[in-house]
Amino acid sequence: MTYEAAAGRYGSMPYPHCGRSGLRLSAVSLGLWHNFGGADEFDTQRRIVHTAFDHGITCFDLANNYGPPPGAAEDNFGRLLARDLKPYRDEIVVCTKAGYTMWPGPYGDWGSRKYLVASLDQSLKRMGLDYVDIFYHHRPDPATPLEETMAALDWIVRSGRALYVGISNYNGERTAAAAAELRRLGTPFVIHQMRYNMLVRQPEMDLFPVLEREGLGGIAFSPLAQGLLTDRYLGGALPADSRAAGKVGFLKPEHITPERLRIIEALNEVARTGGRTLAQLALGWVRRQPAIASVLIGASRPQQVVDAVRAVEMAPLAGDEIAAVEAILASQ
Ligand SMILES: NC(=O)c1ccc[n+]([C@@H]2O[C@H](COP(=O)([O-])OP(=O)(O)OC[C@H]3O[C@@H](n4cnc5c(N)ncnc54)[C@H](OP(=O)(O)O)[C@@H]3O)[C@@H](O)[C@H]2O)c1
Repeated sequence: MTYEAAAGRYGSMPYPHCGRSGLRLSAVSLGLWHNFGGADEFDTQRRIVHTAFDHGITCFDLANNYGPPPGAAEDNFGRLLARDLKPYRDEIVVCTKAGYTMWPGPYGDWGSRKYLVASLDQSLKRMGLDYVDIFYHHRPDPATPLEETMAALDWIVRSGRALYVGISNYNGERTAAAAAELRRLGTPFVIHQMRYNMLVRQPEMDLFPVLEREGLGGIAFSPLAQGLLTDRYLGGALPADSRAAGKVGFLKPEHITPERLRIIEALNEVARTGGRTLAQLALGWVRRQPAIASVLIGASRPQQVVDAVRAVEMAPLAGDEIAAVEAILASQ
């Protein structure tokens, strides 16, 4: 069946500027870390991506190692592009990254120029693309000079492989150093991707002030704490088809502690009172940060994408909702 994108897809999604750049991101982005591997049902992947694009999500986030096996998510996204999304290529922001282990030996990991350029060439091949919109260095490399990694990002843009660059998982201090170096080189460095949600607040301390000062856009990954900040595990449930019950990934049943459950149940009450789902409250809470341009969700089914899109269509969190959330988080 030929895919035709929904005519009304740009009806309600906000597209904030990514920092002080001209690039605008959909306020919700879709990540392909989970559920887009070699063993995942292709038809479900296809429906999730179509639902996202049909609801105005333009920003799709990948990495060289997403799968399993590593590379499978890019392979699958390449199939989706070839089959359905090619006519819409200029309406889509494709992002990928390198920085974690991808192939054996000294050149398949971390942050050397050798690794980053080779990895992006492999990613482009898997996705059947000439360029990506954003290429990220996925994590800081303490053993490679920052100047080398940043020069590689600069060259990646100048050689036509990416339009913009970003970094991920860098702390505030290293981000400021990267920004200074990339400014010197004249590189279009526009975005930082960090873990940020109600249960992980470190970026508030050191990173967000740097992003605002440098005019960089923030995109928050795992805004739902991999599903903990949703109705999935309420009442101590462990659904068989949930991420925590699955064999793949980092979220384990032991992470759902009685203390966590107490917090999640209390947050759910705040959500209910405000007419939101817990996931919608969690996304609204992340979006209250001026540094955040987009929330980067994952989804195992199309309905989860729709829930997230509804969250950004709703009114921002009210002062009393934020105060109630803060009181619960302070009681941890
Ligand atoms: N830069 C980095 O180092 C880094 C690291 C991690 C992730 N990321 C990026 O961030 C993306 C998102 O990460 P994430 O998947 O951890 O994000 P997340 O949005 O916090 O978690 C997604 C999971 O939550 C559950 N969920 C989502 N919406 C729901 C809803 N409305 N109701 C109930 N459950 C819901 C689903 O789990 P079930 O499977 O249980 O249904 C879904 O797979 C990744 O795909 C990747 O692109 C980047």
